[in-house]
Amino acid sequence: MKVTVIGTGYVGLVTGAILAVQGQDVTCVDIDQKKVDGLRRGILPIFEPGLDKVVALAVSRGNLDFTTDAATAAAVSDVIFLAVGTPQSESGAADLTYLETAAESIACSAKKGAIVVIKSTVPVGTNKHIAEIIKAKCGYDIDVANNPEFLKEGTAVADCQNPDRIILGVRNKRAGDILEQLYAPLLASAVKCKLFTMEPESAEMTKYAANCFLAMKISFINEIANLCEHLEADIEDVRRGMCTDRRIGWEFLNPGAGYGGSCFPKDVRALVSQAEAMGGDTRILKTIDEVNERQKAVMPRKVLAHFKGDVRGKKIAVWGLAFKPGTDDIREAPSITLIESLLKGGAEVSVHDPEAMKNIEAIFGNQITYHDEKYAALKACDALVVMTDWEEYKGLDPSLLRWHSNGNVVFDGRNCLNRDWFSLSNTDFYSIGQEPLRSAVCWPKEAKNETPSENTANAQTELAQPGKAALVLACL
Ligand SMILES: NC(=O)c1ccc[n+]([C@@H]2O[C@H](COP(=O)([O-])OP(=O)(O)OC[C@H]3O[C@@H](n4cnc5c(N)ncnc54)[C@H](O)[C@@H]3O)[C@@H](O)[C@H]2O)c1
Repeated sequence: MKVTVIGTGYVGLVTGAILAVQGQDVTCVDIDQKKVDGLRRGILPIFEPGLDKVVALAVSRGNLDFTTDAATAAAVSDVIFLAVGTPQSESGAADLTYLETAAESIACSAKKGAIVVIKSTVPVGTNKHIAEIIKAKCGYDIDVANNPEFLKEGTAVADCQNPDRIILGVRNKRAGDILEQLYAPLLASAVKCKLFTMEPESAEMTKYAANCFLAMKISFINEIANLCEHLEADIEDVRRGMCTDRRIGWEFLNPGAGYGGSCFPKDVRALVSQAEAMGGDTRILKTIDEVNERQKAVMPRKVLAHFKGDVRGKKIAVWGLAFKPGTDDIREAPSITLIESLLKGGAEVSVHDPEAMKNIEAIFGNQITYHDEKYAALKACDALVVMTDWEEYKGLDPSLLRWHSNGNVVFDGRNCLNRDWFSLSNTDFYSIGQEPLRSAVCWPKEAKNETPSENTANAQTELAQPGKAALVLACL
């Protein structure tokens, strides 16, 4: 089938590339000439694990190309996906400007019988709205369907290749049949994928309901974690006790510094806004967002409290800027709230992230320092704050922290470090929903001049066995 995908962001590019490797003839369109030029040269505009290989494979087979010319691509396509951004507007509602422009850009050229598929996350009723825009422009009806996307940044390729479900919001059987045919290779290869056909309005609501529910799980566990801190309970024990209940499960119940990203914050607010526009009351939805905004202030508060309310002149390292591991996306990331607060308080900030540094630099410019190597960011620092649970941070060895930084203070905003190791290493260790660990002594300054012992240098290897590692550290 000939397919056009409008928008080459996280959703559009992944969708286009996966459909292309499955044999469809795909053209990806973007208004951003620089992105398209880069894609033609094999440079991806985003980081997403494995996406470079999928794109390269599809291009080498001749199934995927890139253009800024939406009309020409749409003119020969059987299916036209709209996968542009639907960001939050000032009122909190979804801003449909990009979607409307994208729809207009293909309206007159889409051939009769083509299906326009909204993949962007949109308020209930958008399907009708876009169908009207297209009809007003081209003078005849074109089928507009909804096919919400459930991929997660960081695992987008795998999610798209192996989805839990495909939702088709269609007005008639023909549109459903064509889309089912388009997805037939995916349905055949996916491990356990269900296909549901429904009205577009239900498809639109399904996406919002799913995202709001996941956001609610995060806000819920964060609220319980905050209570734990005041009640001498340990959230990690509570989580184990709670999540082993099969009715509850483990997913999206990790306490942390708050959720971010391009979806949860705006989608929760968009549904609240849509409900309010109808005079509806959405107490749960509003609270999810409020709890999350409060949670984003938790790490700045912990840092400030440790330094007795004054971080002026303190050098703070921040590891992890992306809103979650596996992505370079920093939209609404809690790291931004933290850095803003530290700078406001007069601290010096040095940062590291494996993928998101360019994006954070676009916000903070020369106000902070950037390090390609994570330990370089620690140099002469008074404290480290971990804001994203990248794999490469999880094995942080307390003795290496002490060696590279000025102090022995760590804030674990994702409960991803090994608390046991730090408990034996005389560190001030703060996490979420757990009692802080306090160091009994300050490390002597002269210790910084020693070269690390062989034990210390090899500690990360040793730490692969936590029990043994704890002993090694205790003896250093
Ligand atoms: N990012 C995710 O994890 C995710 C997951 C599921 C659903 N969604 C939803 O999918 C939609 C897209 O999200 P995204 O993260 O891929 O967005 P994005 O911002 O990464 O990409 C959007 C792309 O569309 C392009 N664009 C904008 N207007 C255009 C036009 N008129 N013609 C051609 N290109 C145009 C932009 O230049 C950009 O490259 C949103 O509605 C989002 O809520 C996102």
